[in-house]
Amino acid sequence: MALYAMGDFHLSFTVNKPMDVFGSEWKNHVRKIEKYWKKYVKETDTAVITGDHSWGRNLDECREDLGFIEALPGRKILLRGNHDMFWDAKKTERLNSLYEGRLSFLQNNYYTYEDYALVGTKGYCYEGKDSYEHFEKIRDRELVRLRASFESARSAGYWKYIMFLHYPPTSIGETESGFTKMAQEYGAEQVVYSHCHGKARYDDSFHGEVDGIIYHLVSSDYLRFKPERIL
Ligand SMILES: [Fe+2]
Ligand SMILES: [Fe+2]
Repeated sequence: MALYAMGDFHLSFTVNKPMDVFGSEWKNHVRKIEKYWKKYVKETDTAVITGDHSWGRNLDECREDLGFIEALPGRKILLRGNHDMFWDAKKTERLNSLYEGRLSFLQNNYYTYEDYALVGTKGYCYEGKDSYEHFEKIRDRELVRLRASFESARSAGYWKYIMFLHYPPTSIGETESGFTKMAQEYGAEQVVYSHCHGKARYDDSFHGEVDGIIYHLVSSDYLRFKPERIL
């Protein structure tokens, strides 16, 4: 048994959105994901896929992409990314019942791996794309969702946590954030995030140990499409 993570699959089986415009490493990226996933992840393993699953704008346009993920070996837990238009955070329960026994959607809830609780939310960082006030509003909402995830696990008796975000835990130049502080507060052992792709963005946030917590960037291109072992 093992726990793996990788994010930013950016699938587009239904909508036409080739990824190689983002760099040569994205050429045939779906085939690479499938090849390495099948090489590393066993049917008895658990994997958290950290968002930006599909370019589809609604569930109909995402069905094939989610079907591709479903067909990969192992138990798959999905986190929401900024491009996941098919997933209304408030309607996560609906997705969970629709895909029951096939895919699990992590939002305002938690899943378990051995004696660990897997908690998380999309997160947010400031990228200069919106006003700072708007950034603060979205970030604060995400912090509420993250706390709900931690609290649901804690009230069920879990005290060991792995925390997942789609966005990096800090904005460029920050040495801490509401997200890193919450990881500290609950004693998360590891924080796993993606969203940063393209070489220019790989060092936007933390790598390795910071204040006793291990941080992992798991964007698919950063990992060269090989899922990262977390536990
Ligand atoms: Fe992405
Ligand atoms: Fe993203």
